[in-house]
Amino acid sequence: MSIAGLVAPEFRSRPQSESSFARDLCEGLSAKPKRAPCKYFYDREGSELFTRITALPEYYPTRTELGLLTQHAGEIASLIGAHAAVIEFGAGSLEKATLLLGALKNIAAYVPVDISGDYLAAMARRLARLHAGLEVIPVVADFLEPLELPSLPRDARRVGFFPGSTIGNLGPSEALRFLRRSASMLKGGGLLLGVDLVKDPAVLHAAYNDALGVTEAFNKNLLARANRELDADFDPDAFAHSAFYNAPLKRIEMHLMSLKAQRARVAGRLFAFDEGETIHTENSYKYTVDGLHALAHRAGFGPVRTWCDPDRLFSLHWLAC
Ligand code: AVI
Repeated sequence: MSIAGLVAPEFRSRPQSESSFARDLCEGLSAKPKRAPCKYFYDREGSELFTRITALPEYYPTRTELGLLTQHAGEIASLIGAHAAVIEFGAGSLEKATLLLGALKNIAAYVPVDISGDYLAAMARRLARLHAGLEVIPVVADFLEPLELPSLPRDARRVGFFPGSTIGNLGPSEALRFLRRSASMLKGGGLLLGVDLVKDPAVLHAAYNDALGVTEAFNKNLLARANRELDADFDPDAFAHSAFYNAPLKRIEMHLMSLKAQRARVAGRLFAFDEGETIHTENSYKYTVDGLHALAHRAGFGPVRTWCDPDRLFSLHWLAC
């Protein structure tokens, strides 16, 4: 295996710096209603909490998508074809990448794109052990920004992989922008996309309000991270986790609700919270299969095949472009 391009400066985009966290959080806390970008959930502690979420009995997306990838690996591989350069946006799950890579024939390269260089390096090392001879070309970049790909093996078909319904954490216009950019980057190939589906609100509610409180800890880690990195003085116990399904907008909303009138300092600035006021920390959009197909068409993809589990909890799409 070669780990060509590992943190190569020419492909390195602006890292998620402490100052961008300070700037974005202060901007969000100055807005009405208050908000915070969900990308700041994922420091080391937040990523560990998210890994724990994916194993919770209430959180169906991960195991359902893994089931779809396992069950349909053969058909997915024949639709993708041989000699693919697989570009994974977000490089989140070694297990999912391994399932896909294991099914494909004669892979040209695997290009995981992630903002965290440390995470990518660890993932590349582990993949090296699992797939001897695989060319791994990690790219440290924010895949939501315009992306410059490294040079790929000649004649390789470009195939994007975006599992986990991370697309659901983007707003409608952001999702369309991301898909449009992907369609032009992957021209002649396609995108394998995992998407969470609209369903019984009770199932959604349970998935984001687990009995062990792991999602609550994940949400509150944003405040703890600000305390660690931005000299903030939040009292996480003075905020409550709130997650609910907003049916008209087809999205789970996560908030942190202030349990009393209070103030908190962040990076030298003071913010006041009324009792009951919230910080909107995440949206997780749910799609219908038809809605996703319409979005894919607008972005320049042609939906070729969609796989769903029998309970129609989750969907996996092969979108050609
Ligand atoms: C990463 N993302 C798809 C997760 C989701 O379901 O929206 C993040 C998450 N938030 C709370 N639980 C999981």
